[in-house]
This record gives sequence, C-alpha cells and structure tokens, in this order.
Amino acid sequence: MAKLFITGSMELCVARSMEDELFFSCVKDLLDHPEIQKLEDYFQHSRTTRLKHSLNVAYYSFKAARFLGWDHRSAARGAMLHDLFHYERKEAPISALRHLRVHPRMALENAERNFFLNEKERDIILKHMWLCTLKPPKYRESFLVSFVDKFCAVMETFCAGVI
Ligand SMILES: [Fe+2]
Ligand SMILES: [Fe+2]
Repeated sequence: MAKLFITGSMELCVARSMEDELFFSCVKDLLDHPEIQKLEDYFQHSRTTRLKHSLNVAYYSFKAARFLGWDHRSAARGAMLHDLFHYERKEAPISALRHLRVHPRMALENAERNFFLNEKERDIILKHMWLCTLKPPKYRESFLVSFVDKFCAVMETFCAGVI
C-alpha cells in the first residue's frame, strides 16, 4: 500500500514499496531538518527545486547502491546533503565556473554544522563535482553519487517530470 511521506509542512513523495520505506528511514531525520527544507526555496536545473533535486539524487543513488550491494545508507545521506547551500546560483557573487568548483566545500561545511557525518558521507559531498574538481573520490559510493548527480541534472533539465 502506498504511504505518503510528509515532512514538516511538505508532502514530498509517495513510497510505493518496502524498498521506498527503507530509503525514507535512511534520510527521514535529514528531511525533517529546517536547513534541508529551506532547499525548497531555490531552483536547481531551471525547473526543479534544490530539495527535489537532492531527493532525486539520494533516491537513485540509494537504489543503485542497493542493487550493487554497496553502502546504500551513506550513499542516500551523502547525496541528500550534496547541494546544501542557500542561494540562487545565478545570484551568487562568483562566476558560474567558480561556483561549480566551490559549492561542494560550502555544502560540506553546512552539512557538518548541522549533522553528524561519517567519512564516506563527507567524501560523497566534497567530491560530487569530480571532473570539475580535480581530486578523485575515495569511495565507490562517491563515484556513484557523482554519476547519479550528473544523470539527474540532465534528466531534470531536459526531461522535467520524468524523474
Ligand atoms: Fe552540486
Ligand atoms: Fe547536485
């Protein structure tokens, strides 16, 4: 039976399976936090909010990590926090290129201020822009989230409504 997950005042999405409920159990405390809920106020990839983007990356990273038998909890939590910054990218007082390179560090600082992170979650956040940033991920889950982030960015930009 489908179960609607409500966090704060938001109806985020519907869990359709036990697998979905496991996903929400991994990120529920993050979704309930005001710093995460504020992400709904900012756009990401034109029509998607930063909260929905973060949720997309977390959900598909979780699914892929489960399929591969990897650390699905760290993948989901690191992905949920990977873009934790609170400004519209176009209004940032830095160039788009510089933003691509510095926002992982900002997200990590914001995440560490509000949540306890394990080493893998730190690496996932800090390295999610790998190839724009030079230092490669240390963990396979970090590679996975970096790939899923790019996949979701493309889907949200060109196929809005599909994911
Ligand atoms: Fe990002
Ligand atoms: Fe992202």
